[in-house]
Amino acid sequence: MLELQHIKKSYDGVTILQNIDLEIQDGEIVSILGPSGCGKTTLLNLILGITDVDEGHIFFDEEDITAVPMEKRGFNIVFQDYALFPNLNVYQNITYGLRNKPDISTKEEVDELIRLLGLEEHLKKKIEQLSGGQKQRVALARTMVMKPKILLLDEPLSALDGVIKESIKEKIKQIARDYHLTTIIVTHDPEEALTLSDKVLIINEGKISQFGTPEEIIAKPKNKFVKDFILNQLEIKRNNIFTLFQNDIRRNLQVVNV
Ligand SMILES: Nc1ncnc2c1ncn2[C@@H]1O[C@H](COP(=O)(O)OP(=O)(O)OP(=O)(O)O)[C@@H](O)[C@H]1O
Ligand SMILES: [Mg+2]
Repeated sequence: MLELQHIKKSYDGVTILQNIDLEIQDGEIVSILGPSGCGKTTLLNLILGITDVDEGHIFFDEEDITAVPMEKRGFNIVFQDYALFPNLNVYQNITYGLRNKPDISTKEEVDELIRLLGLEEHLKKKIEQLSGGQKQRVALARTMVMKPKILLLDEPLSALDGVIKESIKEKIKQIARDYHLTTIIVTHDPEEALTLSDKVLIINEGKISQFGTPEEIIAKPKNKFVKDFILNQLEIKRNNIFTLFQNDIRRNLQVVNV
């Protein structure tokens, strides 16, 4: 279990995050949702260990890791811009981390991940020859072969759309389930957060606005921000889709009534 207690972080005297208290269970998928600049990436960086907290503690499996450096925490991140190596091909990118630690994953495990992420046919390609969604899957595979204790993803789907986005969402879910991997995903899209995760952490102005399951958030929004900012967006989307498919729905109803 990952536990954050009373976390506070400021930059140049300005408070970015405060009173962050949070428990994430093993194998859970948690989305961090909130508007631009609310502190999502900062929170991910604090968990990863690239950034130090000002106050509070971080525990992992009951060990206080607040002062443990990033390399020793054993978590791993997929950055928004993927940060792949342009001079290496897809397979070399995926297995890069194993060069110094070959015992972490067997060849069979690497092949299994490649298959799961549908990358078999791209292994010899250079990074520049890939689409955004393919790069995203390579970045995911490269991180996964290192078997992180926690997988952190910073806006992994924001550059993607439509069917590709849905297919990568499914892959992330499948990996989290198959590997029982705690996965923390930053997003600013309510639909993505609520359809992808077991729990959603909504942050506004550096504080937790609500932390709960998608059902709890929809049924019992805790405050005006969750209602106005999060649920309102979803309702607009729902109404647009209903309007678009109205004729279809009527037709189906007629069929049912016949
Ligand atoms: N290294 C830094 N030095 C100073 N200020 C910083 C630093 N990193 C982040 N900030 C500030 O902290 C605030 C939160 O930034 P953060 O990157 O966590 O936001 P975010 O929620 O990830 O936003 P976005 O959705 O736009 O990515 C911003 O006001 C930002 O300017
Ligand atoms: Mg960010």
